[in-house]
Amino acid sequence: MSDKLPFEFFLSPEFGADPYAVYAGLRAEGPVHAIDFPPGASAFVVVDYEHARPALNDPRLSKNLASGPEWFRDAISQQNPVLGDNMLMSDPPDHTRLRRVVSKAFTPRRIELLRPRVQAITDELIDAFEGDTVELIDAFAFPLPIIVICELLGVPDRDRADFRRWSGALVTPAVNEELARSRDEASDALRAYFTRLIAERRAAPTDDLVSVLVTSDELSEREVLSTLALLLIAGHETTVNLIGNGMLALLRNPDQLDLLRAKPELLPNAIEEFLRYDAPVERATFRIALEDMEIAGTPIPKGSFVHVSIGAAGRDPKAFDRAESLDVGREDNRHVGFGHGLHFCLGAPLARMEGQIAFGSLLARLGDIRLACPEEQLRWRFSGSILRSLAALPITI
Ligand code: HEM
Repeated sequence: MSDKLPFEFFLSPEFGADPYAVYAGLRAEGPVHAIDFPPGASAFVVVDYEHARPALNDPRLSKNLASGPEWFRDAISQQNPVLGDNMLMSDPPDHTRLRRVVSKAFTPRRIELLRPRVQAITDELIDAFEGDTVELIDAFAFPLPIIVICELLGVPDRDRADFRRWSGALVTPAVNEELARSRDEASDALRAYFTRLIAERRAAPTDDLVSVLVTSDELSEREVLSTLALLLIAGHETTVNLIGNGMLALLRNPDQLDLLRAKPELLPNAIEEFLRYDAPVERATFRIALEDMEIAGTPIPKGSFVHVSIGAAGRDPKAFDRAESLDVGREDNRHVGFGHGLHFCLGAPLARMEGQIAFGSLLARLGDIRLACPEEQLRWRFSGSILRSLAALPITI
């Protein structure tokens, strides 16, 4: 493809309304397309499954932003990188060390112990629904994962409105000065918050995850801080979308909603299907080519940015039968919704558990559920950057 796709195109409301039609059009022309993000840089987006999956685990594609071109390194070093020193933004051997420390506290067994607590929070949130219309994102999809991750980390969840604001500012593409300013303010605020918390736990460790990190002699102070920010943000900005996008998918496909209600044993398959069908992480985080390389015959010069579209890969008809259809009973679903390889989502067991409890409880308790506004009024808070995230999802119950 010769012309570069402007980044604004991916951030437009039209793209948000139906990115999959756009991706299908792009895929028909080829698996790799030039894109103007960061503006002016050499950058590409991969839109088919065959090339997206290996790209997610290609050692020639670095996750360390410092591997980027010089102008980019200068720009990020001025940017107060609260998110720069964690496993998601690093390559081996740092990645191995950073992930190992957190993995010790994040074992599937430890996560499983949280099940009764996740169920209790879910029940309390549903108990608090009032009237026959509920805005599902505010009333449920956002609070559930943020309360869970705050409890796991050992961060007071009374501060969650601040976390939501800061995290929103940090994950919004800073495409203008105002957004860049709010991102920097959020970064400062989050850093000050965690610096205080780290000092408190160093003085008096407890059994929470913050204490595990601060008492580890394998992490620097900067790395502890950045890891906490990553866990807080990755722990909720994603699961919110699993619940929001998954519920929207069911509302648009009432036969699948009825099927899932009639057969709750399909819940694990349904969660995997939501991850494929309308991926919460629409596009994997930045990758930078460490050498001149090719993807699907497209030359990728050293220093280029390579974006991998997880959302597009999930709808590739070469990889999935009836890729455009939601099928809550789909078997052998090899989606890449949690990424692939070295950076495969560390929180996947937690996210799966939260998703199963959330949908199991909502469908069991809510009776008839419908969209409470015309489809055209739905707005996407983010789409076409990293996350695909509804601004609101009003439902009638
Ligand atoms: C990494 C998706 C929930 C923590 C990732 C990646 C994806 C992803 C796609 C890889 C990104 C890349 O390769 O660029 C999701 C989705 C979730 C979810 C769809 C919910 C439905 C969570 C939760 C946590 C979490 C609840 C918990 C704290 C992480 C961490 C990484 C990660 C720490 C970095 C792993 C590494 O770099 O080795 N996630 N995630 N995620 N996720 Fe999740």
